[in-house]
Amino acid sequence: MSSPSFPSINKITVLGSGVMGHGIAQVSAMAGYQVVLRDIEQSFLDKAMEKIRWSLNKMVEKQKLTQEKADEIFSRIKPVVDIKQALAGADLLIEAVPEDMNLKKKVYAEVDSNSDQKTLYASNTSTLPITEMAALTSRPTRFIGLHFFNPPQLMPLVEVIPGSKTDPAMVDMAMEFCRKVGKQPVLCKKDVAGFIVNRVFIPLVHEAAYCMDRDNASMTQIDSAVKFRLSFPMGIFELADYTGLDVIHKATVEMHSRDSKVIYPHPRIKQLFEEKNLGQKTGKGFYEYKGNKYERINLTEEQAATYDPTKLLAVAANNAAWLVTNGVCSREELEKALKLGMGLKKELFATVQEFGPQNVVKALRELAAKYGSFYEPDPYLVNWRG
Ligand code: 3HC
Repeated sequence: MSSPSFPSINKITVLGSGVMGHGIAQVSAMAGYQVVLRDIEQSFLDKAMEKIRWSLNKMVEKQKLTQEKADEIFSRIKPVVDIKQALAGADLLIEAVPEDMNLKKKVYAEVDSNSDQKTLYASNTSTLPITEMAALTSRPTRFIGLHFFNPPQLMPLVEVIPGSKTDPAMVDMAMEFCRKVGKQPVLCKKDVAGFIVNRVFIPLVHEAAYCMDRDNASMTQIDSAVKFRLSFPMGIFELADYTGLDVIHKATVEMHSRDSKVIYPHPRIKQLFEEKNLGQKTGKGFYEYKGNKYERINLTEEQAATYDPTKLLAVAANNAAWLVTNGVCSREELEKALKLGMGLKKELFATVQEFGPQNVVKALRELAAKYGSFYEPDPYLVNWRG
């Protein structure tokens, strides 16, 4: 993979071995790249390599890979603590450290002073402004957002987000890289808070918490309705626990600080974060779990029938509509992103059509009258054309 001004990509360094970092390292190794996975402590890397082994074993179990192939992939990933050693010879750096601008500043300063001139930079940030991050580095034209979805091993979407100075050849390289690792890229045309999918997902977690209070509904009632009536693969509390309340909280803070209109924060998310009840990985978040392994919540169609999820649909559709109205993506790209990044089994706007766009707008107007302008319906919904 090369272009006149860009080197071909052979060696990839992934910074940060958490949920996203280890998954990105795995999919890159599966595509044949030599991968270095870097973290600040050996114990983090040991845990990450254990998770990669678990995931590859699952794929062998499901006959998606042979044992031999899985072993070969595993051997292509080299866990490294030393930053200089980790960056030596890297063609592409993918940064996946926690979502905190101060931390990113420190990381990019360290990266810049240790990386080769040729190394291209990509950030797996879920919410931070790409242009601002690119400006922290010595190579803003060779910096791009590459936003994978959890679990990177299974979710086919990557959002590609150029900053204001990103070279168009870098965009081409990123799109090609995504395809090479078996993913489908969607271009996010504007560097907005939450990009495409998180603009819909993160506010929805807060809204689900409000629905519990306002409608006196249980988590499993709401989650069952989200799964069986809004065609999500998981309930929204279930998905928040799966994603991690640390990730949700940090994304909330960043998105809200960039644009207070994008989110109506519910205090429960911050509280869970402060209590270190981070979801599946700590054994407790909204729900409680038996261990820290992959586990699903029992949601049923019977429970789904007892809760009307119109308000949740309305909030999701309103944020989605904002993206289309503001030229961040087309309606087709939006639906593609939601299908591939969140596993929606039916198009979101098809669900709006099913529930009745007038009912969706009515729900938003009622919420706006009680709780303020966050809920004001977007013109795209008000002037619904189907
Ligand atoms: N590697 C390999 N296999 C894995 C895996 C992994 N990392 N994680 C789970 N699996 C396996 C499971 O163990 C299960 O295997 P089993 O059949 O042996 O039990 C199998 O995959 C399928 O799992 P499920 O039976 O639970 O079935 P689903 O059909 O629901 O698929 C899912 C699981 C793909 C996770 C699906 O539920 C889904 O799409 N959920 C939504 C996820 C989502 O929305 N992600 C995006 C969150 S937002 C984000 O990441 C952005 C960030 O910036 C916040």
